[in-house]
Amino acid sequence: MIRLSVPSIDESDVDAVSRVLRTGFLVQGAEVAAFEAALKPHIGTEHVVAVSNCTAALELVLRAIGVGPGDRVIVTAYSWLSTANVIALLGAEPVFVDIEPDTFNVSPQALRETLAKTFANRELARRTKAILVVHTFGQLANVAEIAAIAKEYNLPWIEDAACALGARNASGAAGSFGDAGCFSFHPRKAVTTGEGGAISTSSADMARSLRALRNHGLDPEAKTSTFVAAGQNTRMTEFQAALGVVQLGKLARINGARASGAARYGELLAKTPLTAPVVVEPGAHVYQSYVTLLPRELAPKRQELIGELRARGVETTIGTWHMPMTEYFRTRYGFAVGDFPVADDVFARALTLPLYEGLLAEQQETVVREISALL
Ligand SMILES: Cc1ncc(COP(=O)(O)O)c(C=O)c1O
Repeated sequence: MIRLSVPSIDESDVDAVSRVLRTGFLVQGAEVAAFEAALKPHIGTEHVVAVSNCTAALELVLRAIGVGPGDRVIVTAYSWLSTANVIALLGAEPVFVDIEPDTFNVSPQALRETLAKTFANRELARRTKAILVVHTFGQLANVAEIAAIAKEYNLPWIEDAACALGARNASGAAGSFGDAGCFSFHPRKAVTTGEGGAISTSSADMARSLRALRNHGLDPEAKTSTFVAAGQNTRMTEFQAALGVVQLGKLARINGARASGAARYGELLAKTPLTAPVVVEPGAHVYQSYVTLLPRELAPKRQELIGELRARGVETTIGTWHMPMTEYFRTRYGFAVGDFPVADDVFARALTLPLYEGLLAEQQETVVREISALL
């Protein structure tokens, strides 16, 4: 089977984990601090706070900003469910915004329209607390536009950079643009700690709050144990952090291999009816997922295609989720087809192809050959 994704694990990773296991110190200590320090140059913020996963990272940031019951958070419509669930988990309402048809990132124009409508109503404006933007599949969203919009409305904005470690443009890297950035180290990401997450921020106050919130509310800077918040336990373990440090040492190599693989797919797909991903700026996409679009008329056959490809030894999947149209959010807020027309279209047509560091050129040729044969 040509797998969708295979993490880049070798003996150096195994050794790092074994070394820490032998010490007997297993939870948040020197290794976690080293992992945080190792992440900083890849992001460029003054503070990095490691946590147990990206979902926890997102929830902690929203809590640190003060999002609570009755509030509203503006969020892209097309993402993994964590992005909206964390808002709902805090008793707040996700206000979904449609995406761009080519990059699948949030549409700045749709964002402007949503905010104009929101701020025309004083009560809605009062309850609106933040903008949560996703760098979808590892490609930077339009950060310059989004930063300008956030500034105009005086709202904090958060980068869900779960898939985007290492993505950059001329002014910085993913996680350095907004008030905070959230990263995932799940095995489908370029570098992994098994489960794992981190938050980047340039705000010392935010970092201090996050460090308390991840550790039962314990103030990280107080001389004696002082519990300043009703915190959770979303700490990272020492052996995960040690794995993370070794993995980070390979990030450039892994992202380079993914970029080469993406370029090769681009050439191979030119002869097929599939639409290859659109990249706005070189370096701005790290291809956590290589997501193509099927011709519109073939969208109803996508599940069948995925099944047939699997039978032929090629693992593929859909893109990500149309969150407002999932059972929970659709029934809770009464969304219907047509409310987010671009997400409707992309959600129906997206097909993710295998891409990882060890994927061979011949395997990519097989993937495209099998798809072409079935189409
Ligand atoms: C955009 C996005 N946000 C959040 C998450 C959640 O990350 P984690 O699995 O580390 O909680 C994911 C996971 O795939 C993701 O793709």
